[in-house]
Amino acid sequence: MKKLASILVAASALVAFSGLAHAEAEKSAKPVGFSFEGPFGTFDKGQLQRGYKVYKEVCAACHSMKFVAFRNLADKGGPGFTEAQVKALAATFKVHDLNDKGEAVDRVGLPSDYFPSPFANDDAAKAANGGALPPDLSLITKSREGWHGTFNQLVNGIGGPQYVYSLLTGFEKEPEDVAKDKPDGKYYNPYFQNGIWIAMPPPLSDGQVTFDDGAPNKLEDEAKDVAAFLAWTAEPKMEERKQVGFEVLIYLAILAGLLYGVKRKIWAAIH
Ligand code: HEC
Repeated sequence: MKKLASILVAASALVAFSGLAHAEAEKSAKPVGFSFEGPFGTFDKGQLQRGYKVYKEVCAACHSMKFVAFRNLADKGGPGFTEAQVKALAATFKVHDLNDKGEAVDRVGLPSDYFPSPFANDDAAKAANGGALPPDLSLITKSREGWHGTFNQLVNGIGGPQYVYSLLTGFEKEPEDVAKDKPDGKYYNPYFQNGIWIAMPPPLSDGQVTFDDGAPNKLEDEAKDVAAFLAWTAEPKMEERKQVGFEVLIYLAILAGLLYGVKRKIWAAIH
């Protein structure tokens, strides 16, 4: 009994303090909906391709994606680029490498390369961004939370893609009471998880990226497409995972039916 009580105390302390472990933004993320939500949600290939274009034309100037290889863009469950397209788009990137004398050189990207950082190293990246390091974006939608509360996250997910969307659409004019504290080279964004001042200049605006499929390209559209793309980079096997889960459920349902039939047969004489 005593043991049970101490386990309960430890568990409730964990729940109470887990909320304090990470920083919270001034405002919760905007509740924008995505096609890949829910147990049957899938990625929208067109949207992933548009999101890639936003990343390539805008975000790649500052952010790497070191866990994503160009060849992944042709993988099942992803944006569905062909291998020829992947080869061509990899070649538009410069990749840091060593030549056969061991000297650092930049060469043209190959499908097997990973999305490189545009900077030589972290110090160079910080120097170019007012001292702040642009984080790698491969897993960003898994490492940021749009909203808080254990129950809320259980029902609605952690809101990573919504966080990215809200951050990109959340640059606002600073309220008067904080305007005097504005640090040099920082921008007001109440959706940022590390306080209200962010070192990233507003990267997107209406009409900045023109989509090949003629889809709308207001700031909100561009932000939503790139947030969806970053949800895919963080969980490229999501569709496979959901499909396997569904198949397991069907298997278990059939098995339960069979077991019930067997049970009735075995016990028939006794009842
Ligand atoms: C001019 C360089 C630059 C561009 C272009 C840029 N960013 Fe950033 N980004 C930064 C910097 C610098 C930071 C770190 C900000 C800080 O810590 O104050 C950052 C931070 C972020 C963060 C993390 C915020 C957090 O919670 O820590 C996300 C997400 C992000 N950027 C997404 C994007 C996306 C998506 C794009 C393209 C649409 C983009 N960025 C374009 C420089 C850039």
